[in-house]
This record gives sequence, structure tokens and C-alpha cells, in this order.
Amino acid sequence: MNEQSEQQANRRPSDSEIELALLMGPNDANAMGNVHGGVIMRLADEAGALAAMRHAGKLVVTVRIDSMTFLEPVRVGYLLQLKARVNWVGNTSIEVGVRVEASNPITGEGIHTNSAYFVYVALDERGRPSPVPGLELENEAQRRRWQEAEERREIRLEKRTQAQESWQSHRR
Ligand SMILES: CC(C)(COP(=O)(O)OP(=O)(O)OC[C@H]1O[C@@H](n2cnc3c(N)ncnc32)[C@H](O)[C@@H]1OP(=O)(O)O)[C@@H](O)C(=O)NCCC(=O)NCCS
Repeated sequence: MNEQSEQQANRRPSDSEIELALLMGPNDANAMGNVHGGVIMRLADEAGALAAMRHAGKLVVTVRIDSMTFLEPVRVGYLLQLKARVNWVGNTSIEVGVRVEASNPITGEGIHTNSAYFVYVALDERGRPSPVPGLELENEAQRRRWQEAEERREIRLEKRTQAQESWQSHRR
């Protein structure tokens, strides 16, 4: 197998899974001691990009972030844990699901604070979309996630078309 075809061999979701853990400090929070939503969003995007880059074996950019709901506040001093896993791949794009949990560092008690889906596009050296390896699905849960991601993709592409049409009509 040459280097090119080796790079494009199918990969499993477990090959690119990422887990990050960070202690939240005062710089991450407001005056009430609650961590800013934007901080969590940035870290989730970083975890997702790392999983996508591992899968693609090249640089990626974020093309889409689905809506993010914060279910529980995260307090200063808590340990934020982010788990990112590739759910779906297209030709050049990759959907990653990121789950965020916060735990009390003393008791270890954790809460699920939010989950979100991110779409990344792999780029070649000239910054153009570049093909990614296929995804080897190994179990029923992965096949279900793939199917659900397909459905989300339909909606995203529909929204992209609507947004493009709206921009064009405003330009006229
Ligand atoms: C990402 C980017 C290179 C894609 O360019 P483009 O001209 O839209 O490219 P294409 O139309 O060929 O789309 C590339 C892939 O992205 C997918 N895509 C594009 N827009 C999308 C959207 N809104 N939602 C989901 N997927 C999308 C396409 O379906 C295609 O997937 P596929 O190859 O798997 O079928 C370009 O939009 C870009 O540079 N965006 C800015 C990225 C950025 O700066 N991010 C923030 C910092 S990382």
C-alpha cells in the first residue's frame, strides 16, 4: 500500500476519539463563578477539531456548529471533561459529536452539561476541501449515530441553501 492509499484507508470512530479534561479557573467565569458558555463552546470546538483532524490526517476548519443548549451551570473549580467522536463522514466533511460533563474534583460527582454536533471540512495544502477516509462502523450504536447524522446533514444543507438565497436577494 502506498502512502496516499494508506492515508485514505477507512478508520474507526475509536481511532480518532478524543477526551480532554480541564480545571475551570476564575478567568473562565463571570463574577458569580459560573463558567462562560463561550468558553465551553470554544473547548468543545477544539475537542471536535482534534477528533476530525485525527480522522482526516490533515488540517480541518469548522464549517458548522449546531445549536448548543447548556443544561446545567459549570462552576469555577470544576473539572470540565469533553469527549469527541466522529459520527459521520462525507467526501470532505466530518460530523463530530461532543459531550461535555463537569465534575466536582473532590467528590468526582459529575453532571452532563451539554452536547453538540460540529461539522469540519478537511483542507489540502492550498486550503481547498480535501477527501477524508471512510468511517468503518463496528456496532449498532455507531450505525444509529451515522443515520441520525445523515438526517442532520439534510437539514443543514437545506439551511445553507436558504441562507445563500437570502444573501443573494439582499445583494440585489
Ligand atoms: C469550509 C470551506 C472551505 C468549504 O468551502 P465550500 O466552498 O463550501 O466547499 P464545498 O461546497 O465543496 O463543501 C465542502 C464540504 O462541506 C460541506 N458543507 C459546506 N457547508 C456546510 C454546512 N453549512 N453544513 C454542513 N456541511 C457543509 C459540504 O456538504 C461538503 O461536504 P462533502 O464534501 O462531505 O460532501 C469554506 O466554507 C470556508 O473556508 N469556511 C470558513 C471556515 C472557517 O474559517 N471556520 C472557522 C475557523 S476554523
